[in-house]
Amino acid sequence: MEKKILFLLAWLMLVVTGCSADEPQTELPDTPPEEKPEEPLEPSGDKKVLVVYFSHTGNTRTIAGYIHETVKSDLVEIKTVDTYTDDYDALLAQVRKEVADEYCPPLSTTVENISSYDIIFIGYPIWVETAAPPVRSFLTMHDLAGKTVVPFCTSGTSSAEASYRLVRSLCPQSEVLEGIQIRRGTYDTAYDRVIAWLQKLGIVELNNKSNDEK
Ligand SMILES: Cc1cc2nc3c(=O)[nH]c(=O)nc-3n(C[C@H](O)[C@H](O)[C@H](O)COP(=O)(O)O)c2cc1C
Repeated sequence: MEKKILFLLAWLMLVVTGCSADEPQTELPDTPPEEKPEEPLEPSGDKKVLVVYFSHTGNTRTIAGYIHETVKSDLVEIKTVDTYTDDYDALLAQVRKEVADEYCPPLSTTVENISSYDIIFIGYPIWVETAAPPVRSFLTMHDLAGKTVVPFCTSGTSSAEASYRLVRSLCPQSEVLEGIQIRRGTYDTAYDRVIAWLQKLGIVELNNKSNDEK
């Protein structure tokens, strides 16, 4: 009887907290819908754009691809010297420690010509309620003073606010624009939301379909 109650409690916890939802999944479609621009568009104001991202299971890579295919930009993946394990429990334990210690994992990626960019998109998964540690490494290693920094992230159910705070704190002399978060379960609308967000930020101007139809 006691066992039965414990089992029910455990199940209820999973349903209420959505813990299982924070396990990695790769569900994002690789190819965006057909209405995507044939060629990436020139960013407004003749800006030079870099899209840089860290991704462990591919979701953030997909979003980085959406941005890169829409805005004329360079695309760089942040890679760590030591690859993170695919064992979820071991990874979670490691990341918890890295986040608590504000650890900067060594990267094998550096962008030598970072000073030549005006706008830098920085993408990451939410890990343990904040940006994955390689983002801390990247932003610590590169001087983004005077640049426009634009965060984007993928996640389970958590808020992205702590990660945005981290980005702002690591880029105190940059203008950090409103980020976008693509939560699991909302992938079907991800592409459209990314495009709308890029337009809202004034980074690209797309021909509005409804205007064309008028
Ligand atoms: C170690 C680990 C910790 C995670 N922590 C969280 C979390 O705290 N909150 C959340 O919403 N999602 C969390 N997730 C889920 C990821 O943010 C989500 O699966 C993301 O889309 C993965 O991006 P990627 O495929 O680019 O690596 C975690 C995933 C892993 C592997």
